[in-house]
Amino acid sequence: MTRLLNCLMLLGVFILAGCSASKGTSSESDWVRVTNGNLWLTAGGDTVQAHAPGFLRLGDTWYMVGEDRGREWRPDVNLYSSKDLQHWHFEKKIIENGVTSPDLGKSRMIERAKLLYNKKTKRFVVWCHWESSNYGASEAACFSSDKIDGTYRLEWSGRPLGIKSRDCNVFVDSDGTAYFISTTVENQHLGLFRLSDDYLSVVEHTRLFAGQRREAPAIVKLGQRYFMFSSACTGWAPNQCKLSWSDNLKEGWSQLENIGDNKAFRTQPAAILEVKGTKDTTYLYVGDRWKDPNLAQSKTIIFPVTFTDTSCDFRYRDNFEINFKTGEWREDAKAKK
Ligand code: DGJ
Repeated sequence: MTRLLNCLMLLGVFILAGCSASKGTSSESDWVRVTNGNLWLTAGGDTVQAHAPGFLRLGDTWYMVGEDRGREWRPDVNLYSSKDLQHWHFEKKIIENGVTSPDLGKSRMIERAKLLYNKKTKRFVVWCHWESSNYGASEAACFSSDKIDGTYRLEWSGRPLGIKSRDCNVFVDSDGTAYFISTTVENQHLGLFRLSDDYLSVVEHTRLFAGQRREAPAIVKLGQRYFMFSSACTGWAPNQCKLSWSDNLKEGWSQLENIGDNKAFRTQPAAILEVKGTKDTTYLYVGDRWKDPNLAQSKTIIFPVTFTDTSCDFRYRDNFEINFKTGEWREDAKAKK
């Protein structure tokens, strides 16, 4: 009888353990402490060179592409991976200035590379600002590869639909439609460019924020509502980050509202990440702290942003903690003491 009871108890323990594992129960060790303000280094001690980054999360791995400012000017584009946005592994240089596309010359300023995955074609696509040294070209470029760390080939370069285009980002809507969004016509407007189904070309243009001189746009969607962060155009110097929202990507954007301090905590927007977990979804602002003190040592700054109906709490933190399993974030335990 005692033996039977023991067996039943043991079975109970196994069933409970199985249930909690399948629910993805998280423990204290799943919390990651994010620290801002320092250079990111790989395990080998190299500076992470991926400025104005773009991100793609595949399973539990974050991939990041960005400007290699190791030699400051004429950047290449590097690819890194990480499970926690803190420990970065260098995957490879995916675009080498003058080598990946020799026909386009080697003196280009390749800025704000952003990464997309096209589910239909199963290709990885990079869009970027493809600039001449005096920023006169005002062009974009698109590259693609069948593997994230594969060989990227040039698909297209030029002014999208003939429109002068500089600072850029990408956004994929819930139905899979992708957009390239950039600062257009000598920094006057923002252009929202719908991409073709394969994400390799631009098919439609909508002018947003006409004459308002915004750059560094970053869009995120919560429910049916789109939120956009952007900066003013002041070169490498930080300025006020502004928020706008709309329920329609192509029109009805609200007036620009100041968020955070008047220098965006010495950053400029690069991305808004969605960390969806078993319990919650956290949104992370990613910004560049340029020229800190030089381009090569520019820092990547990350902090959580809490959106309300029509605004957001945009507050810098030296440290915070995030749980990539549950999608929760919390103030840094040490900072509270
Ligand atoms: C600000 C932009 O956001 C950067 O990407 C870069 O183009 C600098 N201007 C160049 O001055």
